[in-house]
Amino acid sequence: MNIAETASIRAATSRDVGAIVGIMNEAIASRLTFDERPKTQEHGKHWFAEHDARYAVLVAVDAEGVANGFASLERHHAENDTYAGVASLSCNLASGAQRRGLGTLLMGEIERHARRNGFHKLVVRTFPANRGSRRLLRNFGYRVVGVYKHDAVIDGAYVDVMALEKLLSPGHYRLGNPGKPE
Ligand SMILES: CC(C)(COP(=O)(O)OP(=O)(O)OC[C@H]1O[C@@H](n2cnc3c(N)ncnc32)[C@H](O)[C@@H]1OP(=O)(O)O)[C@@H](O)C(=O)NCCC(=O)NCCS
Repeated sequence: MNIAETASIRAATSRDVGAIVGIMNEAIASRLTFDERPKTQEHGKHWFAEHDARYAVLVAVDAEGVANGFASLERHHAENDTYAGVASLSCNLASGAQRRGLGTLLMGEIERHARRNGFHKLVVRTFPANRGSRRLLRNFGYRVVGVYKHDAVIDGAYVDVMALEKLLSPGHYRLGNPGKPE
């Protein structure tokens, strides 16, 4: 049976942090994300604590309740309160759970969550060579903003980074009240 048919999506709890760190570290090892060093459990706890009901972490869990993928909303330009309506999106699956529809499930849920919670835009960065990520984002209607040349340094070499965005509610956003759509 397709893994996506038996999976369920729910808000992550602190008990999922171990599995999430494992998924992060698989993405890091495969060089598909913006870190080179593996994350520790301590890092995972700190990262999870920075999220809340609005800047959510969702997990895809299998029939045994084990998280094999997550999607999260991160603060975008956290130092500027004028960006309260924009979240940076992250989505990663365990290697054994990829290409079976889970990313599509998670992306749909995190987008619904973002709309319900007053975000008017999602932004995401990926590597131009990451075909899976680009395909998923294209399916969800993300627009390529552009490519930063020689942006990150991975394994001692510059890599280009693609920036994408999706407007969620451009026509219904009340200026002057970030984070609270009409
Ligand atoms: C990228 C990722 C989130 C996609 O989730 P997924 O569950 O594997 O994707 P889905 O099965 O829902 O498929 C979505 C689309 O992407 C395509 N796709 C997924 N992985 C692919 C790959 N490695 N190469 C080419 N296409 C791929 C699927 O064919 C599908 O396209 P289609 O519907 O047009 O046929 C997941 O593969 C992953 O976590 N990869 C490793 C980490 C990563 O790249 N994270 C994203 C960082 S921005």
